[in-house]
Amino acid sequence: MVSKVKSFSTYGVDAIEITVEVDSSKGLPGIIIVGLPDSAVKESKERVRSAITNSGFRFPGKKFTVNLAPAGVRKEGTNLDLPIALGILASLGVVKGEKLNSYLIAGELGLSGELHPVRGTLSAAVLAKEKGLKGVIVPPENASEAALIEGIEAIPVKSLKEAVEFLNGELHSPPVKHSPPEYTANYGVDMAEVVGQLQAKRALEIAAAGKHNVYMVGPPGSGKTMLARRLPTIMPQMSQEEIIETSKIYSVAGLIHQVPVVQRPFRSPHSSASEASIIGGGSSVKPGEVSLAHNGVLFLDELPEFKKSVIEALRQPLEDRIVTVSRASGSFTFPADFLLVAASNPCPCGYYGFSDGVHYCKCTPLQVKRYRSKVSGPIMDRIDLQVTVPAVKPEEFKGDKGESSAKIKERVLKAREIQKKRFKGSKISFNGQMGRKEVKKFCKLTPEAEELLNHAVSTLGLSARAYNRVLKVSRTIADLEGSDKILPHHVAEALSYRE
Ligand SMILES: Nc1ncnc2c1ncn2[C@@H]1O[C@H](COP(=O)(O)OP(=O)(O)O)[C@@H](O)[C@H]1O
Ligand SMILES: [Mg+2]
Ligand SMILES: [Zn+2]
Repeated sequence: MVSKVKSFSTYGVDAIEITVEVDSSKGLPGIIIVGLPDSAVKESKERVRSAITNSGFRFPGKKFTVNLAPAGVRKEGTNLDLPIALGILASLGVVKGEKLNSYLIAGELGLSGELHPVRGTLSAAVLAKEKGLKGVIVPPENASEAALIEGIEAIPVKSLKEAVEFLNGELHSPPVKHSPPEYTANYGVDMAEVVGQLQAKRALEIAAAGKHNVYMVGPPGSGKTMLARRLPTIMPQMSQEEIIETSKIYSVAGLIHQVPVVQRPFRSPHSSASEASIIGGGSSVKPGEVSLAHNGVLFLDELPEFKKSVIEALRQPLEDRIVTVSRASGSFTFPADFLLVAASNPCPCGYYGFSDGVHYCKCTPLQVKRYRSKVSGPIMDRIDLQVTVPAVKPEEFKGDKGESSAKIKERVLKAREIQKKRFKGSKISFNGQMGRKEVKKFCKLTPEAEELLNHAVSTLGLSARAYNRVLKVSRTIADLEGSDKILPHHVAEALSYRE
């Protein structure tokens, strides 16, 4: 008898439906699985066999042929343990058929039949809804993810035995109640805690308003990390759509305890991190830091210390807001729309141009040059704002408290409203995403502002790209002020965020 069980596997950030077909027949006893990579098949077979016998079911001396369809698609071995076991039991008539067709079922089996969580359940729940299915049957750890999606059942089962009983109508396992994720603004930190650093804070405000990437340069201990960490607190709240998008990535990455992601992510991978961990990849193709930072902030501290290949690979996500990971088994695309904040010391020792009277730069001019040249080129073209962050003087700590994140955010929100109208119906949504065409259309200067900029071009020798960056930043500065026109003081400020 042939049985069919519906399951899923992840492909990039989405789930795709996998059908597990099992045929039991006379023949050499054992399980034959087709459609999975060899290593995964072997392990899955062992787990399935042990789980079935240890759950109190009989495992007869028959030949079971398991076909995983569609054949051409890469599959996660462990997701399919439970559906394979259920398929075998269904082919024996132990599991009755009807409900098997109404749910996407997944779970990794332990040897005694207990279930362990899988990756990508949230995407599976979205898929179940699209396909008009009743819902998903998954391990308890995954059920709450699925319950983020309205209109489907998220059925938690602890073991193979429970799954069988549920499918046979012997166990009442109520779905986990649907609860829409809610954004929480409580980041536990606030811009008001940062003393001084008015220019850097202002640069972050412009960054948050127009989605411009930022580069902070300053000596150790000047507050670069502290500032970057507080950038999410001045960004708008996440929409439901953004929360689900980002949560899907975390679910696929296996970070299920962080699902749902209800705050803008702040990711700060170490400079020694591998390309796979930052860009995405590995043997089971997981999203990298650029995707975990989706809809939030990617902070690259000590940017010149990152591997050259990593810095190069950032170009695609910075341009396309997605990242493609190529493998022999195919190429996988993950969303990667983040705000980049990079930071670095001015030189290897940290004090070039920023002596505090105690530390003096000990680097040779060549060392300084080399250090800086590491991040030149394509990535710098994608950074609109550069700001120096000198150490705060002791007397500044006695001064007034800085502006709160809430206050700054109000201005950011206004500037975002203006951009929403501006880019309505277009492919981009923010000033920072404007190409040459949009710059031409939307960055109209008053004659005086034009004169100022032309003067800067001739005296500073701005490249065409730098010129465009100044225009984009000027647009955001004008938006923050609610000014339709770009005035000379907007341009003057924009010019100050350059090296
Ligand atoms: N402007 C500042 N306001 C308040 N505290 C500061 C400031 N700058 C530095 N600090 C203190 O110094 C510590 C180190 O700052 P950090 O952000 O790590 O510096 P950097 O990243 O530039 O090396 C912070 O955790 C904070 O306690
Ligand atoms: Mg730091
Ligand atoms: Zn130095």
